[in-house]
Amino acid sequence: MNKISFAFLVAAAGLMTSCGGGSDKPAGGDSTAKAVDSTVKAFDASAILPDSASFRSTVDGKPTTLYVLKTSNNAQAAVTNYGARLVSLLVHDKKGALIDVVDGYDSIGKYVNQKETYFGAIVGRYGNRIAKGKFKVNGKGYTLAINNAPNSLHGGTKGFGAVVWTGRQLTDSSVELTYLSKDGEEGYPGNLSVKVTYTLGADANGSALKIDYEATTDKATVLNLTNHAYFNLNGQGSGTINNHLLQLNADTYTPVDSTLIPTGKIEPVAGTPFDFQTPTAIGSRIDSSNIQIKYGKGYDHNFVLKAGKGPGLNWAATVLGDQSGIVMQVATQEPGIQFYGGNFMTGVSPLKAGKKDDYRTAFCLETQHYPNSPNQPSFPTTELKPGKVYKTTTAYMFSVKK
Ligand code: BGC
Repeated sequence: MNKISFAFLVAAAGLMTSCGGGSDKPAGGDSTAKAVDSTVKAFDASAILPDSASFRSTVDGKPTTLYVLKTSNNAQAAVTNYGARLVSLLVHDKKGALIDVVDGYDSIGKYVNQKETYFGAIVGRYGNRIAKGKFKVNGKGYTLAINNAPNSLHGGTKGFGAVVWTGRQLTDSSVELTYLSKDGEEGYPGNLSVKVTYTLGADANGSALKIDYEATTDKATVLNLTNHAYFNLNGQGSGTINNHLLQLNADTYTPVDSTLIPTGKIEPVAGTPFDFQTPTAIGSRIDSSNIQIKYGKGYDHNFVLKAGKGPGLNWAATVLGDQSGIVMQVATQEPGIQFYGGNFMTGVSPLKAGKKDDYRTAFCLETQHYPNSPNQPSFPTTELKPGKVYKTTTAYMFSVKK
């Protein structure tokens, strides 16, 4: 990834991408960022967006719908205001066909009834785990629901992925979603106003989906927003992700205890199954006897991203779909990224187009602050105070390796 490849992002976000650069060349790197040229416009009819009518309903007395985002190279995305979820993301593969690279359902009813998953959701108020559901802000203790015993996970029983947001289509390629999380909701302090904007873009190198997050509060609180898309770059529900090649911009990670709470240490990945400093098949060490792998039942860990070289987006990860040739690069302003390898996927959920969410058929790369930060003073803070604006951006950029 370089500044020129994704001019769209720079223009749309007013941000310069400051990537790992130098020796940290992402997998696929510049040579694969050629992607979709103007001669490749084929449309694979098997990858289509779900029918919008199946998303028009009422949940908790509020209307739900599906927003469709389109861009100049025919890449498309669909977002519902139920959980501000990314439902579909259609990008081009090496043959120019459109592939839906995120797991999801084809109707609002399935999202509401499949509560064990977070497909495409905006996760909050606190993405990831808070130990024993307890934390303090300004010396005052707060207690959250224990929905992932013995801890609180992803905002509690009814986090931001399970509430109805207010949506507004801004342009053909962007949608804004807002939500007011009331003081005391799920145990968190402060009325928190949240805004998330999805923007789809394209240039000669491929397509990109940018997510901008913004929030303010009227009482000091903790906050850690992320998107929980489940990716399979060969196409959602198309089989194992173990042969995808992953590279992370991280030479350290936060090891966990048996309940997946970080121990507080930051340890080097070198010489462990957590070393993704060069492109490596996800599955090559996934069943190793390493105790951290045992705790996660595979990969379910936060990596500490190497600091960027400027104020913009920092390169975080690059993944190559072994069959499609699709290269996804993740860039963010967050200090960490949770790599979850679909270890708890069960195959029981009916995905779009009749596909199944089988074990390890998708991965998540959740850009974030580290898990349990409210209880780890040595980690970057997740506190938000009144008068301050929380602002963070993450982008997923797609090109192909031919
Ligand atoms: C967590 C996993 C959890 C999954 C649920 C991930 O962010 O780290 O432990 O099972 O979300 O989708």
